[in-house]
Amino acid sequence: MAKYTVVTMPGDGIGAVVLPEALRVLDAVGFDAAYVHADIGWECWCKQGNPLPQETLDLLAEHRLGLFGAITSKPKPEAEAELAEELRDQGRVYFSPIVAMRQHFGLDVCVRPCRSFAGNPLNFVRQDGRGGVEEPEVDAVIFRQNTEGLYAGIEWSDPPEQVLEALRTHPRFARFADCDPSQLAISLRVFTRRACERIVTAAFDYARKHGYESVTVCEKPNVLRETSGMMEAVAKEVASRYEGIWLRSTNIDAQMMWLTKNPEDYGVVVAGNLFGDIVSDAFAGLVGGLGFACSGNVGDEVAVFEPTHGSAPKYADFPRSIVNPCAMILSAAMMLDHVGELEKAQRTRDAVGRVVREGKVRSYDMMKLSGRPDVFDQGAADSAEMTDAVIAAL
Ligand code: NAI
Ligand code: MG
Repeated sequence: MAKYTVVTMPGDGIGAVVLPEALRVLDAVGFDAAYVHADIGWECWCKQGNPLPQETLDLLAEHRLGLFGAITSKPKPEAEAELAEELRDQGRVYFSPIVAMRQHFGLDVCVRPCRSFAGNPLNFVRQDGRGGVEEPEVDAVIFRQNTEGLYAGIEWSDPPEQVLEALRTHPRFARFADCDPSQLAISLRVFTRRACERIVTAAFDYARKHGYESVTVCEKPNVLRETSGMMEAVAKEVASRYEGIWLRSTNIDAQMMWLTKNPEDYGVVVAGNLFGDIVSDAFAGLVGGLGFACSGNVGDEVAVFEPTHGSAPKYADFPRSIVNPCAMILSAAMMLDHVGELEKAQRTRDAVGRVVREGKVRSYDMMKLSGRPDVFDQGAADSAEMTDAVIAAL
């Protein structure tokens, strides 16, 4: 019997391309695992009226370890239109299955490492002031609260009377009191002290374990006084328990500017759900973009690892796949870390690093080509060739 069982959820579009590539790398590095397939995504929604089937939840509850590719989400009108006819008019509402999965299993700690690999032509460079350019080494790890905040899913268009009544108790709602409710849309930002404590503590633990000097809490407490204010206050309390690690505080807007000026100044960054999503994509853009952006969703019981990119539907049907599997492979390496297979995890990352550094095999994104089926004519590697190169480097 294999030592580990992993639930594999390829999902939609290129999720189904990159996930099998990552499995080939896991095999090559000697990871002793059995894989159980589970369905998730748009097709499940269209055919079953549920993008996150119960069987998938059951498998994850049983095996506690998942690899996820990507799903397609579409806006409300398309979600209704593409639903199988017999499932319509039953009050079914589409909700992102990955967000639902994070909430269902309490995968509240999202970890997104953004580290530059030497020699990546996509790495951030800046003018050095002497007529040349310099390439700072980026090594940021974003801790994003994964289950609450603006992604809690508590939203209304045309809010019901009870909601309006509650809102009228707030003096600042007076400005909107005359607005026709049918012209109102409301999304609620919910933070709990417990979740703030958990994400900040995870960030500080990581900083201590991996030798980072600082943790930066990135919110907007001057305006979002209650929610961001809570995160900031909790961060100060938690920081007092970690001697030698400096707590910094930035506002999300300023942080978006600073990270393209001095990205090397930031180590561990912690933020709520939306700001964490934003700041992690921004850091990812400095180290190779979506083709390299990996992540883990970690709870007390279950953990699911996934590239941060989506299903890239426009590339999904190319006869030969152009997409970069590295984000998925690096996510699989995070899974190896999570289960304690540290040496295999590091070897996997080193192999990706070697392929990038040697530069002989490069997917279209690394060549800065626009994504078209004919990128191979210009020397781009396909998804399988990238994976083969990583395996050879192992
Ligand atoms: P996307 O991440 O799928 O693609 C954006 C662009 O990034 C692509 O057009 C491509 O140029 C590039 N890209 C993405 N993955 C790449 C890879 N592995 N290698 C090279 N280039 C890559 O985001 P988009 O187009 O905004 O959304 C497409 C669908 O994916 C939507 O339905 C969206 O809701 C969904 N989505 C799902 C996510 C998830 O499953 N976690 C996350 C983000 C979007
Ligand atoms: Mg995102």
